[in-house]
Amino acid sequence: MKHDPTGSADPIDAHPRARLAHLPTPIINVAALDRRLGCELWIKRDDCTGGAESGNKLRKLELLLARAIADRCDTVLTCGGLQSNHARATALACARLGLRCVLFLRMADPSEPLPLTGNVLLDRFAGAEIRRISVEQYRDRDALMANAARGLELRGARPFVVPEGGSNGLGALGYVLAMREVRRQLDLGLTSIARSRDGDRRFDVIAHACGSGGTAAGVALGAARHDVARDVRTFAVCDDTAYFTAKIRGIIDEARTICPGLPTDPPFLVDDQAKGPAYAVATGEQRAFIVDVARASGLVLDPVYTGKALFGLAQAVRRGDIRFGARVLFLHTGGLPGLLADPEPFRALV
Ligand SMILES: Cc1ncc(COP(=O)(O)O)c(C=O)c1O
Repeated sequence: MKHDPTGSADPIDAHPRARLAHLPTPIINVAALDRRLGCELWIKRDDCTGGAESGNKLRKLELLLARAIADRCDTVLTCGGLQSNHARATALACARLGLRCVLFLRMADPSEPLPLTGNVLLDRFAGAEIRRISVEQYRDRDALMANAARGLELRGARPFVVPEGGSNGLGALGYVLAMREVRRQLDLGLTSIARSRDGDRRFDVIAHACGSGGTAAGVALGAARHDVARDVRTFAVCDDTAYFTAKIRGIIDEARTICPGLPTDPPFLVDDQAKGPAYAVATGEQRAFIVDVARASGLVLDPVYTGKALFGLAQAVRRGDIRFGARVLFLHTGGLPGLLADPEPFRALV
């Protein structure tokens, strides 16, 4: 296969995988969104990698939790914001695999009771232990989890720490594999893509939301490795371009050390212009965009990640940063439980 030079001998397959996700996820086109965004928009439905556990995190967890099991660990520790999609996916995947799960969730006031909504409700359904931590403690999350892991070890457990967002070299390989999946979908001939241009079965741009950098690192590596797109556009939902560029490069380096044959310096560009006022806070314009997209297409975005990213893509086309009419693959990375946990900002729009 021209674009998949490794075939079954791909070194990435040496890493064990827990089969958690429903794959391959579909790639769809909705004409009404092409007109709204000014590009040929294809949507990779990674919001459909599963049921309640769905989203981009499941692809990373396939590798991370397989490693935990291979290392004979029995307790998984991870962290995130209160309504973390990653924490929820980890809790549910752990329940499925018979692993204990401890979540360190950031709260403005950790003495407040846990709101039993959205992701938190699902964390509790999964039986995860939740430890509430302050914004300040969260800054030292890696040390905090390492300490907790030592404590668990002393009590006879075998802990396995998954970093924020599952974003390390191993987790990122989940998105290298996702790009291999897209390459196979293109080679198999998604008919309308094949029809829209002669023979050139790849995208001009891949666009997606970025919150901890692991998806971006895997997409950049995989898109270059499997010739899926010329350009990777990563829309930051917090921090800024300089922060994420360095972070993503670090994850790319780590992934390259554990998986031979991945490209050096794969191109990617972090756009932080749609991050809004703060993490998990969207602008009025972004919220109106999310509602408009749902009404035009039935596609539901969330205000923390995917809504900001698709809004950012529309703005980038409007500014001319992305060519009008470009063929874009947008990764819908999930996030619905977070939206349902906090509907109030949408009251005036619905
Ligand atoms: C729904 C959703 N989309 C996108 C992202 C960003 O992925 P990453 O953390 O790999 O940057 C996350 C998590 O942070 C997420 O929950």
